[in-house]
Amino acid sequence: MTTLDINGKRHKIDLPDDTPLLWALRDLLGMTGTKFGCGMAVCGACMVHLDGTPTRACVTPISAAAGKKIVTIEAVGNDPVGRKVQDAWLALNVPQCGYCQSGQIMSATALLKQHPRPSDEDIDKAMSVNLCRCGTYQRIRAAIKQAASLNEEPV
Ligand code: FES
Ligand code: FES
Repeated sequence: MTTLDINGKRHKIDLPDDTPLLWALRDLLGMTGTKFGCGMAVCGACMVHLDGTPTRACVTPISAAAGKKIVTIEAVGNDPVGRKVQDAWLALNVPQCGYCQSGQIMSATALLKQHPRPSDEDIDKAMSVNLCRCGTYQRIRAAIKQAASLNEEPV
């Protein structure tokens, strides 16, 4: 039995230790905002935060997530920075098909929490782990910059 702290709630998970966190989130808990893309750490669709660090849930066993604070797309808007990222995504109509976008938002939020004023290089580096088959990269970068400028406002 593994206890996971997800979005501020504790969940008892009766699955083998090496079960990918993504399976626990989607299949056991029904939290389908975190997407399955490649299943092998190359697309970023499954990005969540573990103690604030962007982490691919498809290659993270639940045993490695135990004891850490897990945040998923379902709760990232509770964070002031995450909310600004989501607002910028909406304002700039970033998504096309949308499939990659929850992972993109999780990576962008982690970036802005660490670098409130990211350079283009910071953005490229942080976002290089998230692929978008629809090619929304220009709007993603613009939305990150918009969210960063909004960081000047009081939260
Ligand atoms: S599904 Fe995890 S990186 Fe692609
Ligand atoms: S919006 Fe379609 S994959 Fe990114």
